[in-house]
Amino acid sequence: MKPVKVGVLGLGTVGGGTVNVLKRNAAEIARRAGREIIITRASAKDLNKARICDTQGIALTTDPFDIINDPEIEIILELIGGAGQVKDMVLKAIENGKHVVTANKSLIALHGNEIFAKASEKGVIVAFEAAVAGGIPIIKAIREGLSGNQIEWLAGIINGTGNFILTEMRDKGRDFADVLAEAQALGYAEADPTFDVEGIDAGHKLTILASIAFGIPLQFDKVFTEGITQITRTDVEYAEQLGYRIKHLGIARKTAAGIELRVHPTLIPERRLIANVNGVMNAVLVKGDAVGATLYYGAGAGAEPTASSVVADVIDVVRALTSDPENRVPHLAFQADAIADIPVLSSEQFKTAYYLRLNAEDKPGVLAEVTRILAAHHISIEAISQKAPLNNETSVPIIILTQITLEQEMNAAIAEIEALATVSGKINRIRLETLG
Ligand code: HSE
Repeated sequence: MKPVKVGVLGLGTVGGGTVNVLKRNAAEIARRAGREIIITRASAKDLNKARICDTQGIALTTDPFDIINDPEIEIILELIGGAGQVKDMVLKAIENGKHVVTANKSLIALHGNEIFAKASEKGVIVAFEAAVAGGIPIIKAIREGLSGNQIEWLAGIINGTGNFILTEMRDKGRDFADVLAEAQALGYAEADPTFDVEGIDAGHKLTILASIAFGIPLQFDKVFTEGITQITRTDVEYAEQLGYRIKHLGIARKTAAGIELRVHPTLIPERRLIANVNGVMNAVLVKGDAVGATLYYGAGAGAEPTASSVVADVIDVVRALTSDPENRVPHLAFQADAIADIPVLSSEQFKTAYYLRLNAEDKPGVLAEVTRILAAHHISIEAISQKAPLNNETSVPIIILTQITLEQEMNAAIAEIEALATVSGKINRIRLETLG
């Protein structure tokens, strides 16, 4: 059989890694795919730049559309990233009848509904395993491996940069900015690192996971995101004393009222495996009604881990080349006409437990006032402790763990407690999930 010709857009970290893996493992890949797969063309902004891959035998261009419009190319690998002009490239490739493999989470999270509709119309595949959690085959696991289940919830450490920062703060007492600079130097952080630390990148990935888990449209605009910039060493230490770790989690949960889509720092019991996922590693915990809890762990970024997912998608596309489009695995796991408009809940409707840290005067009756307000909002206390004053302050830190409550009630209670004359400053609130 004729080899399948592939064109690569972007020869940076992921593009370079993909070229290396496809070349190095060519024989093994051909045995799996049933055909030889060769990269004949690639595009890069600067053709003279030093690269991590050998481009011998690959015709290079600075214009991606040279490749997108080449009738010989059957599969386009979009490894440029970002959602600007890249969207036009992907839509044009689909228009030209080419299959697309992408590692681009923002593209899929923001424009996936349009892209998949166009791909279905043209009978081509758009594969995106590398868009979520790098080398972990989490899309395939949920879309295919768990397709007999009703997915109840999933929770993931899906941004390596954020996890690296929290891990270094906890283990080495390092500064936030210092660790972020290292993550950037290692090539893990996004071009705009606020995407990592403010939860935007994790929000893109959660959007994709929730869509394939619950059969809902991609709707990034409905994801609640809270970053890790407010997490202090003190919170990390107090959490630890109580038997918890703080992780930046993406959580999607199906409830009777609708779906919770949220990214925020979260206290989780240290005995959970996912609490021990450190550094730049990613992990996703998925709870299905039949299988129970399952955990997927691995490298969430980096040249070859991401290439591992890109190449697996290429092999899947090659295997499916001869199948009728309607007999292929649906892009978003559910048949396109079965995607349901289940409401996505606002943050006020979230139900979760909380860690609260407040500074209060150390005198009789203060805690009674605080607990009276919590009780008035139907918030049950799980644990409460008073810490030694910090830096010779007259007030003392009070740590409260609550049971599960409605976020709306918690917002109201926090506003009332902050208004007490005996409480100073803002309350630091971190959501808490037992993930049981
Ligand atoms: N900036 C991302 C991260 C890269 O740190 O996880 C992989 O998507």
